[in-house]
Amino acid sequence: MRLLLLLVSSWAVLGLALADSSYNYFRLPTALRPLKYNLRVLTHLEDPENLRFEGNVKILFKVLENTKNITLHSKNLTIDNSLITLRDTSSANKKYCFSGTEVIPAHDFFVMRICEELVAGQVYELTMPFAADLNRQLEGYYRSSYNDPETNKTRWLSITQFEPASARLAFPCFDEPNYKAPFVVTLGYHKRFNGLSNMPVKEIKPNEQIADYIWCEFEESVPMSTYLIAYSVNDFTHKPSTLPNSTLFRTWARPNAIEQCDYAAEVGPKVLQYYEELFGIKFPLPKIDQIAIPDFSAGAMENWGLVTYREIALLYSAKHSSLADKQRVASVIAHELAHQWFGNLVTMKWWTDLWLNEGFATYVASLGVDKINPEWRSMAQESLSNLLVIFRKDALESSHPISRPIELVNEISESFDQISYQKGSTVLRMMHMFMGDDSFRSGIQNYLQKFSYGNAEQDNLWESLTEAAHKFKALPKSFDIKRIMDSWTLQTGYPIINITRDYSAGSAKLSQERYLLNTQILRAQRGGCWWVPLSYTTQAEQDFANTGPKAWMECSSSGEALPKTISGLPGKDQWILFNTQMSTLYKVNYDERNWKLLIDTLINGDFERIHVINRAQLIDDALYLAWTGEQNYDIAMQLLEYLRREREYLPWKSAFENLKRIKNIIGQTPNFEFFKRYLQKLIVPIYEHLNGLNDTFIDIEQQDQVLLKTMVGNWACQYQVADCVPTAQAYYQAWRNEPEPDKRNPVPINLRQTVYCTSIRHGNDVDWQFLWTRYKNSNVAAEKRTILSSLGCTREVWLLQHYLALTFEPKQGIRKQDSMWAFQAVAYNEIGFHLARDYFMTNVDFIYKFYNPITKDMSRLLPPFSEQTFLQSDFDEFRNFVTEHRSSLKGLEQAIQQTLETMLTNVQWKNRNYGQVSVSIRSLIDK
Ligand SMILES: *[C@@H]1O[C@H](CO)[C@@H](O)[C@H](O)[C@H]1NC(C)=O
Ligand SMILES: *[C@@H]1O[C@H](CO)[C@@H](O)[C@H](O)[C@H]1NC(C)=O
Ligand SMILES: *[C@@H]1O[C@H](CO)[C@@H](O)[C@H](O)[C@H]1NC(C)=O
Ligand SMILES: *[C@@H]1O[C@H](CO)[C@@H](O)[C@H](O)[C@H]1NC(C)=O
Ligand SMILES: *[C@@H]1O[C@H](CO)[C@@H](O)[C@H](O)[C@H]1NC(C)=O
Ligand SMILES: *[C@@H]1O[C@H](CO)[C@@H](O)[C@H](O)[C@H]1NC(C)=O
Ligand SMILES: [Zn+2]
Repeated sequence: MRLLLLLVSSWAVLGLALADSSYNYFRLPTALRPLKYNLRVLTHLEDPENLRFEGNVKILFKVLENTKNITLHSKNLTIDNSLITLRDTSSANKKYCFSGTEVIPAHDFFVMRICEELVAGQVYELTMPFAADLNRQLEGYYRSSYNDPETNKTRWLSITQFEPASARLAFPCFDEPNYKAPFVVTLGYHKRFNGLSNMPVKEIKPNEQIADYIWCEFEESVPMSTYLIAYSVNDFTHKPSTLPNSTLFRTWARPNAIEQCDYAAEVGPKVLQYYEELFGIKFPLPKIDQIAIPDFSAGAMENWGLVTYREIALLYSAKHSSLADKQRVASVIAHELAHQWFGNLVTMKWWTDLWLNEGFATYVASLGVDKINPEWRSMAQESLSNLLVIFRKDALESSHPISRPIELVNEISESFDQISYQKGSTVLRMMHMFMGDDSFRSGIQNYLQKFSYGNAEQDNLWESLTEAAHKFKALPKSFDIKRIMDSWTLQTGYPIINITRDYSAGSAKLSQERYLLNTQILRAQRGGCWWVPLSYTTQAEQDFANTGPKAWMECSSSGEALPKTISGLPGKDQWILFNTQMSTLYKVNYDERNWKLLIDTLINGDFERIHVINRAQLIDDALYLAWTGEQNYDIAMQLLEYLRREREYLPWKSAFENLKRIKNIIGQTPNFEFFKRYLQKLIVPIYEHLNGLNDTFIDIEQQDQVLLKTMVGNWACQYQVADCVPTAQAYYQAWRNEPEPDKRNPVPINLRQTVYCTSIRHGNDVDWQFLWTRYKNSNVAAEKRTILSSLGCTREVWLLQHYLALTFEPKQGIRKQDSMWAFQAVAYNEIGFHLARDYFMTNVDFIYKFYNPITKDMSRLLPPFSEQTFLQSDFDEFRNFVTEHRSSLKGLEQAIQQTLETMLTNVQWKNRNYGQVSVSIRSLIDK
């Protein structure tokens, strides 16, 4: 308890440091409303020493209340005040003068004081010039580059990234999502480039002033939020899509990567057509361009009609990309295209409801991918993987609700996290499953129709869904969606449901409370109540297809959890199993007898009749309950023994995710030896079943078995199972012996990560250098990423130090956007961990400057520390460190808080469970 108090107080200090500005008008005044933008931008890409743009924006706006100032957003732009003009648009065409301007940097406001009052109801036209450098920060209007292999010269391009609040870095505007307006964009550039924007080209004219420059004007857009505007000047080439009757669809990349665009060009229009049908609304723009940007901070960005991607998220090479890489491309494209409706057509009123964008795009994308590639069985994979992530994140006290008040810009950025995406998606899936397909679709369609080209809040969505649910009789009249869903979106966390059976009465008592990893938090402080749709099946019935609720856990009007009794259950020789296909985000604890019955079926019975997602659930629940002490590790470890019979991907994924947490701690203790032998024993049967690392991929029919083989191979080599390490090394040696290793690579694509990492781990600096050279020569982003993660596997301290230095030195070849993969690889290596930690703590100021202002990327350096720290003294040291370096951790408050709390739960685990786990494992390996 004491530790927690310290934690909270240090958090308060960190949080306050940002919020104590006395100016608290963080939102624009509501006196004005933009009606239309005319944006002209001239981009200079010729002189690498002077990459810049200048432009002019003409904003037509309406006055809603009389006012003597115009306040809009502008950041880092040079504005010549003497050239700003304002006139009214009435026949008088009167010009207005300004009495002064003011810049309010804390809120990126640019305020123009007008000599006379502007009058409500009137429409005015403001013209402002602006100029700035194309920055290197990966947001606003920025520069990117690539090397042209033909000439060995650097080619420059320009691109925008405006979400959430960076349009203001590119031109003065009302940079909030509720100010939608049509845009007419005109780009000026040298004629050897292409210009792209949200809309198709309307007209190209020569530039009268600058030789060889042109003006490219695009058609007027539909009304849209500023964060969705995009434009680029580049010398890329494109691949057209050919799906009949599809919206015009083009995929762009640097010329030497164009052959990696085929897959994206094929998937994009297919998914788009599916969505048109699903939502019942045609895609409203005449075209979509999707473009791979060499330097890009996020994964991708859904700009309306001009979707931008990291190369790894759009490009696919049959010769270099694994199945997981391919699935990622499909999934990211499906996500961005889902946004064209959820986000672009209907936009959240304010960033508080960011999850309406992100949760929906994530969920709908999984429907889209499943539709076009049912053979991947990706729906189940993605659902489980979201659940596994959220069970962990949201079991932290420092987590936050899906929908939360947002004021400052850095809070917006912090909201782009797993809670908005994965938890948002998970609760939508829950709703889909308890409402049924017809009413869910109908509710969504009505919502999209009703708010097209407008803005909405979550309550608007709940209304449409409640209407549909009642119409389709999917929900009792006395229930409404808002009441149910508020318990999921406005409340942090998720419940654990205790199920205590009365075997003679054939009933069970259910109770709920919030599940927390931190066991020092008193029961009385956990509280919380969730509306839980209860689905279950029995050992005799084993009906895992019906995911509809048989009953509900309800909450009183004051939000208290109400206990629930369920009757009609079988007797003492049959198990019951709750949460069919894990439709809902909760953990289940049964009484000991029910656990024993379940384990008996898993180990000795017909375990395959239990739905594969529920097998994954049993593993995850048992290991969590053991972690937090509700259950004995003996039971959890006994359950895991059944894995020797398991041949499916999902249960193994669940097991490995959990075992990794234990390994992160035990791997640094003398008892690792037993853990290693225990894992070897567990893995051998599946490893042999899948023919180890032998190249049998061509014979695999079920696609998720490819993922299983990849994952098992990776663990098998880490734990030196059977012939894993020598086989990996043989592949690597064969590659090294190739006369042209950049052209021919004999390592099976889906095993490359394992083969590279294992060979680097057990190899020498010549092996390392060989791989580093391949990195530099590779033309495929997915391959580069695989190599970056593998270079961190070496156990040579000096090589690890060398690699850390390279990581933050972009001239050496690792782009800033990829640096965290390299860093993480070092930090997850048991030897690299200590080096990475020292490096981070010593260089935190430098690292902060390196990433600034994209603190999100910096926060990705933290998980290896949180997961591998388990000593009180290390925890104390890290906590002191963050307190002393607050200014270099600004914008990472949430991430730091979660890091500290995770470390704390590890400390608790070590103290409570280490001895017991060691005993359990030893008894099992001797069996
Ligand atoms: C500008 O005018 C609006 C509306 O009259 C007012 O709410 C706001 O405080 C003013 N802002 C400044 C910086 O003067
Ligand atoms: C803003 O301008 C300053 C000074 O010109 C520059 O150092 C900084 O990098 C710029 N920030 C961005 C995000 O462009
Ligand atoms: C490309 O140019 C760089 C320096 O500009 C040089 O170091 C490198 O060797 C050149 N590569 C080739 C293949 O010519
Ligand atoms: C394309 O649209 C036309 C006219 O709407 C229709 O006749 C044709 O069948 C469609 N083709 C395909 C392949 O859907
Ligand atoms: C759930 O069961 C555990 C262990 O049996 C018990 O400690 C806890 O109080 C129960 N929680 C609720 C909410 O009933
Ligand atoms: C891989 O293939 C080799 C040669 O056919 C064989 O000896 C070995 O047992 C295989 N390994 C596994 C794990 O199947
Ligand atoms: Zn998104």
